[in-house]
Amino acid sequence: MKHHDVIIIGAGAAGLMCAATAGYRGRDVLVLDNAKQAGRKILISGGGRCNFTNLKVEPANFICGNPHFVKSALARYPSQQFIELVERHGIEYHERDHGQLFCNDSAKEIVTMLLTECEWAGVSIKLRTDILAVSKTEAGRFELNTSNGELSCDSLVIATGGLSMPKLGATPYGYQLAEQFGLKVLPTHAGLVPFTWHSEDKIRFEPLSGIAVPSRITAKDGTAFSEALLFTHRGLSGPAILQISNYWKAGETIEINLLPNMDAAQALEQQLTAHPKQSLRNTLSQWLPKRLVEVLFDEALLNKALNQLVHAERAKLVDDLHRWTVLMNGTEGYRTAEVTLGGVDTHELSSKTMEAIKVPGLFFIGEVMDVSGWLGGFNFQWAWASGVAAGQAV
Ligand code: FDA
Repeated sequence: MKHHDVIIIGAGAAGLMCAATAGYRGRDVLVLDNAKQAGRKILISGGGRCNFTNLKVEPANFICGNPHFVKSALARYPSQQFIELVERHGIEYHERDHGQLFCNDSAKEIVTMLLTECEWAGVSIKLRTDILAVSKTEAGRFELNTSNGELSCDSLVIATGGLSMPKLGATPYGYQLAEQFGLKVLPTHAGLVPFTWHSEDKIRFEPLSGIAVPSRITAKDGTAFSEALLFTHRGLSGPAILQISNYWKAGETIEINLLPNMDAAQALEQQLTAHPKQSLRNTLSQWLPKRLVEVLFDEALLNKALNQLVHAERAKLVDDLHRWTVLMNGTEGYRTAEVTLGGVDTHELSSKTMEAIKVPGLFFIGEVMDVSGWLGGFNFQWAWASGVAAGQAV
């Protein structure tokens, strides 16, 4: 049985970051993954350009059953440190809205950078390896039966990610292993995910597929995001929807402000004074795509001139524009979700080292645990920060 100081299961964002950090400390590190390629999620992230971090990372950008949990690791590995790493590797990047940083060229550069760091740190990586069984000996070592033979280690790090995108090899392995060792796993569901219409709404809104508008969307708990809203064949998507999906529960409505940058009541009043005979259709079509206006509002109402609208009609119109309340059927699920909410309960882990409190030597990092970030590079920042925290401790 070949022994290593550290074995990391999962050659994704968190696993590779942890491996390099531990390797540079002189630890003998082996990374195992059942995929045929390391960092597959990184490669497709950010539309192929990897939104690798964010300039403004705050604990409030994360959802976790224990909101204080993320503070220590994020403070000890701020986004600036990852940016410095990216710069040292000569990777060119640019900033988009809300401090999001993307590679200029390709997400592949981030994977190459991580693999290079692992190589420099003396880390071994074995792909196409299935983990068949894991046990802990009385002496405190972990023994692994794998499709590539028997292995043992002093520290075992679980970096198997969440359930999103099963076609990229996502598995519930990390949760199963946590449960095997008696750790609590919180229920999981898809996050950063598009919504789907109920069937009758689908017929009504499907023709709007491809239309994007600025919006402010509010969830039942009051959380709100001002970003683009996109109509799709099946439902609603775009950054505002992905963000709010993290705060949405089945059966809840969401409230959509379709004119977040103007006061519709005031604008309608001004338009009425300036062009009293203008049709409502023409007025609204100055503010929103005409196709959307025609699907949202009644034909007879749209044909009315502004000076024919009674007070109650104007009030309802303003309400519909600023507070369109929508009951979605559900989400597209793990198939298209960017993250998994829930996972290994952080109350079971040390926020400093990511080590299981009840099982010395066993660590959980990245998305497998109950930490999910907003859209905007926060999920990778958590993978880097938690990976470094464990890498310094294993
Ligand atoms: P990750 O999923 O990266 O790695 C897990 C590894 O474990 C994989 O290599 C997998 O093969 C391996 N594994 C799983 N089960 C195993 C088993 N049983 N045995 C052995 N190995 C196993 N975030 C962000 O900040 N910016 C962005 O731009 C994007 N974009 C984005 C796009 C899309 C389409 C998705 C699906 C996700 C994103 N994300 C993102 C989220 C981000 O990709 C995600 O949060 C991190 O990759 C999580 O890193 P981990 O290392 O925890 O898991």
